[in-house]
Amino acid sequence: MPNFIILLGPPGAGKGTQAGLISESFGLSHISSGNIFRENMKGKTELGKMAEGYLQRGELVPDDVTIAMIRERLLRDDCAKGALLDGFPRTVAQAKALDEMLSSIDGRIVAVPYIKVAEDVLINRLSGRWTCRAEGHVFHEKHNPPKGVGVCDFDGSELYQRDDDKEEAIKERLTIYKKDTEPLIKYYKEKGILKQISCDKLDSPPEENVEKLLKVIGVKNV
Ligand code: AP5
Repeated sequence: MPNFIILLGPPGAGKGTQAGLISESFGLSHISSGNIFRENMKGKTELGKMAEGYLQRGELVPDDVTIAMIRERLLRDDCAKGALLDGFPRTVAQAKALDEMLSSIDGRIVAVPYIKVAEDVLINRLSGRWTCRAEGHVFHEKHNPPKGVGVCDFDGSELYQRDDDKEEAIKERLTIYKKDTEPLIKYYKEKGILKQISCDKLDSPPEENVEKLLKVIGVKNV
């Protein structure tokens, strides 16, 4: 039976930073909706052109487009065992669509780790973030710096600052998160699969959070 883990948390909580390490631990593919949109924007595909304005403004891409994109992605071979979902679902409509998708492939959600972080910490993290052009690896200029200035530790590609890490877009993303995504906390709590961890220290090493996340997910469950 394919197993799915949903990493839930506000923009800047560290989902992307921890997701790679967690998906490796469980041997699951890491599916980041934000990375798929950014790859399509880079490749100038129809999906990328459509999504670009939403991402730049910090708004959500419409549900129908996002759901269709994830449905197609989850049917690929590398998700046969399941996946770690980072950034999807982000609305209750997306969560319900995911439930339907998983029931059609006999998949199950084993855990929804929710990374809770205070707003001032989120703003600090997003405004100091540097992202790699090739694979989307993330760094923070002070708290998780790359070894070489402007160069990704993992693949040597150039680091850049995302358009949606500008002040106005950050504010918009946090407002939208509260309105559209926070209701998912209740949605998954009621299903008994929400596992909360707090991560409010600015300089806590990502490995520390990975350990907390692995503990709440429970290796035996996957
Ligand atoms: P997406 O790419 O998913 O962005 P997000 O959810 O806003 O999350 P972020 O990537 O900003 O933050 P993160 O939690 O991954 O934090 P990170 O690890 O980078 O989505 C982008 C856009 O795509 C959306 O706004 C929307 O337009 C669209 N989209 C995506 N999914 C969608 C959906 N389902 N529906 C509709 N639209 C959708 O960490 C942040 C910083 O903190 C980094 O600098 C990092 O180095 C640092 N850091 C992390 N952990 C630590 C730590 N422990 N200690 C110190 N520093 C740390």
